[in-house]
Amino acid sequence: MKLELRGITKRFGDLIANDHIDLTVEEGEIHCLLGENGAGKSTLMNVLYGLYQAEEGDILIDDEVRHFAGPGDAMRSGIGMVHQHFMLIPVFTVAENVALGHEQVYGPGLLNLDAARTLVRDISARFGFDIDPDALVEDLPVGVQQRVEIVKALSREAKVLVFDEPTAVLTPQETDEFMAIMRQLKSEGTSIVFITHKLREVREVADRITVIRLGKVVGEADPNAGKEELASLMVGRAVDLTIDKAPAQLTDNSLVIDKLSIADETGHRSVRELSVTVQGGEILAIAGVQGNGQTELAEALLGMQERASGSITLNGTELLGLNARQILDAGVGYVPEDRTVDGLVGGFSVAENLMLDRSDGEPFVKFGTLQTDVLNEFATEKLESYDIRSQSIHEHVSKLSGGNQQKVVLAREMSRELSLLVVSQPTRGLDVGSIEFVHEQIVGVRDRGVPVIVVSTELDEVVSLADRIAVMYKGQIVGIVPADTPREKLGLMMAGERITEEAA
Ligand SMILES: Nc1ncnc2c1ncn2[C@@H]1O[C@H](COP(=O)(O)OP(=O)(O)O)[C@@H](O)[C@H]1O
Ligand SMILES: [Mg+2]
Repeated sequence: MKLELRGITKRFGDLIANDHIDLTVEEGEIHCLLGENGAGKSTLMNVLYGLYQAEEGDILIDDEVRHFAGPGDAMRSGIGMVHQHFMLIPVFTVAENVALGHEQVYGPGLLNLDAARTLVRDISARFGFDIDPDALVEDLPVGVQQRVEIVKALSREAKVLVFDEPTAVLTPQETDEFMAIMRQLKSEGTSIVFITHKLREVREVADRITVIRLGKVVGEADPNAGKEELASLMVGRAVDLTIDKAPAQLTDNSLVIDKLSIADETGHRSVRELSVTVQGGEILAIAGVQGNGQTELAEALLGMQERASGSITLNGTELLGLNARQILDAGVGYVPEDRTVDGLVGGFSVAENLMLDRSDGEPFVKFGTLQTDVLNEFATEKLESYDIRSQSIHEHVSKLSGGNQQKVVLAREMSRELSLLVVSQPTRGLDVGSIEFVHEQIVGVRDRGVPVIVVSTELDEVVSLADRIAVMYKGQIVGIVPADTPREKLGLMMAGERITEEAA
């Protein structure tokens, strides 16, 4: 089946998320849709799937124009989609999820579970999936849930499958397996639209690559193109992906985490007796698949987890038990995972956000008076050096794009006198060009002799920033290894394999 999108335009108010986009996907090809966050990839696919109605443009299947009023129409035309966030019902079984809404086969309002079980078994066998049709979806690991989504789409005889950032939730091994699944689908004649921002993956499987920037197609890229070439196409200027980093010069500063446990209201522990030391002058990267306790660990370091036990000492001072204000005053810099919750005050200006936690003293406040000139000069300089795209320093920070908001947080935290820096997902939502800059800043803090903890689910980021890598799995560190550890080994650790420090 051949799919063609012709002149698709989709607006959200004043924003043109898709601007006359043309895209052709041939039968049996893996077509990568490459673009930065916010480029318009998901919007385009939601139009294709009937979730959004385009203002302009046509969808053609085998050269015939089709209209999709909803996903049901798209599915009936052979289009399947695996969303970034799975659409399965957790408390239902696999077979129930597959049977749901499958009117073509079962008729409305009727669940023929035996037929669904057979479908699950047959399709699973074809791909070598080990899926129990009667397992509850909520009991399955994410990697398997994703396979259930694939089975569900294939059970509807999808001829075109759309994967929207499928690898974001997978370990490196699961990612490799997923690549193999895509190749098999392709060999069976299924067309695939594969959305990712990981250049490594694109280069591995793409037959064709379409690059989207700011809602427009900027061109096709050669699947054999180098990473830097692809990155440059995405951002529209030359990009250098390597980080220059001198060997770590350790100082006497240290952060010692000892037997840290963090529980939630129900007593479930997201972090379990975790111990690790970070010296001044080194970057300890915490790697792991999302949801293995990394977020809670970072929050505990900032006094934002109430049910934490054990100890966290920074240069001999116990941090556990202090509140966030006291910890910031102790010189801890923090770049949170979700800047809109912990990092910024949306209704404040860019300038105000840049001095947010320094509003009680010099240089911004003297004798109880805000030093507007000092603040404005500081903010103007940060806008310039961090390339923060904002109308002015007086613009409300909520008006900025996600990437620019992130830069405001980074600029603020990194320009303080720091005794520890904790950064979670530092470059999530940033364009490839800004990533380079942010990485340089983080290395700069390390080179000032400060202990730095970087929490990231992006393995490329972990590997290029880290002096040492600690891999977290189910609330524990399964091993601490050097930065040049092979990716395969890191992948095994991310799946829970234990490595002792000696062995590493
Ligand atoms: N439902 C929506 N309402 C308003 N704006 C949206 C909506 N969905 C996406 N956008 C905006 O459209 C643009 C493209 O978003 P998206 O298609 O999600 O990008 P991508 O998937 O490439 O990261 C972004 O600026 C985003 O903020
Ligand atoms: Mg998207």
